[in-house]
Amino acid sequence: MWRYGRRVQINIDSLRADTPGCASTNHLNNAGASLPPTPVIDAVSDYLAVESMVGGYEIAADRQADLAAVYANAAALIGGAPENWAFVESATRGWNAAFSALRFSPGDRVLTTKAEYPSNMAGILRACEIQGATVEVAPDDEYGQVDVAALESMLDDRTRVVSLTHVPTQGGLINPAEQVGALLRDTDILYQVDACQSVGQLPVRVERIGCDILSFTGRKFLRGPRGTGMVWANDRALEQMGNPAGIDGNGASWDEPLVVNPGPGAMRFEPYEVFYAGKVGLAAALAYAAEIGMDHIAGRNAELAGHLRTQLAELPGVTVQDKGALKSAIVTFTVDGHEPTAIKTMLRARSINTSVTGAGSARLDFPERNLVEAVRASVHYFNTFDELDALVAAIAELD
Ligand SMILES: Cc1ncc(COP(=O)(O)O)c(C=O)c1O
Repeated sequence: MWRYGRRVQINIDSLRADTPGCASTNHLNNAGASLPPTPVIDAVSDYLAVESMVGGYEIAADRQADLAAVYANAAALIGGAPENWAFVESATRGWNAAFSALRFSPGDRVLTTKAEYPSNMAGILRACEIQGATVEVAPDDEYGQVDVAALESMLDDRTRVVSLTHVPTQGGLINPAEQVGALLRDTDILYQVDACQSVGQLPVRVERIGCDILSFTGRKFLRGPRGTGMVWANDRALEQMGNPAGIDGNGASWDEPLVVNPGPGAMRFEPYEVFYAGKVGLAAALAYAAEIGMDHIAGRNAELAGHLRTQLAELPGVTVQDKGALKSAIVTFTVDGHEPTAIKTMLRARSINTSVTGAGSARLDFPERNLVEAVRASVHYFNTFDELDALVAAIAELD
């Protein structure tokens, strides 16, 4: 295992022993939903067990400190202050809660990139339709990441928001989030980062990126429960926001018959009704990643993904489709004469989990590469090289 060029130890055997799913499944679908470790499973099931005995409102009152840990743990792993974090049910809900709270004047510009995620684009287009904002897409550079110089040349005084998907769903790209942040640092432009696929996979710190808004999901590389996610906004962004779409009495105060004001901090993004057991589970997942160390996790992931790309690229008829100067733990590939869905099904029959990523999730990217679908094998630090070689051997058997 490598940490910026030097070996560090993380004990893969004990991390696998902590992951019951490893015993029966070769799980290479961590960009879909990873396998949760025992502390996460225990946190969720213990909470649910007590909840079923004492009542949902009663356990929430009794376990306030455990529930609040999710904000402190997010702040510890990713940065910002706990009160600037909100717990939501998914990355989509988080991203759109923040974005929908912004107010646009006709002609305000939103700049995005070719890695944009569909549900974020839906939110941007909604602002265009309802508030008269406009959206433009920055081009890629020669590596397939956002062209930072081109993005700089697109900025003007009508630019309100730059939206960046750090690691896209459809391939191994890591966008240069910190370089974009450096570009925007001394401007009034808000910088919104979708870190859905990067939190838990790579070291992600809001202050290092220099963003104003950041969202992620629980179930992917962070290994938290499904139905969980978080969104962070700094004070400068919050000051520019009104009520988000879907706000309820948890995040708003109904001050006068015709006045509903957003509450303080990021709580305006968090609904009253959330997955409470998931909240303690996500707190456990954040603590678990912090304990292993994000540098260790990222170093191991780079080794595993690099190995897989090299092995796949050596097979005749196989094309690794990942773009980017720096590559993530998401490995995408196509095999001449074989449909990605058929490959996924064949692998599943061998207890190897992968997924298929398609143009419907990558409208700004796949069509211009003449790609319709690709197999997506997303590795995580608890995977072994033997597991990757089993995938490669299965692909090698295709004729
Ligand atoms: C880059 C990116 N952003 C956002 C999402 C949406 O996440 P969620 O399903 O938690 O809303 C995904 C899901 O795959 C994603 O890959």
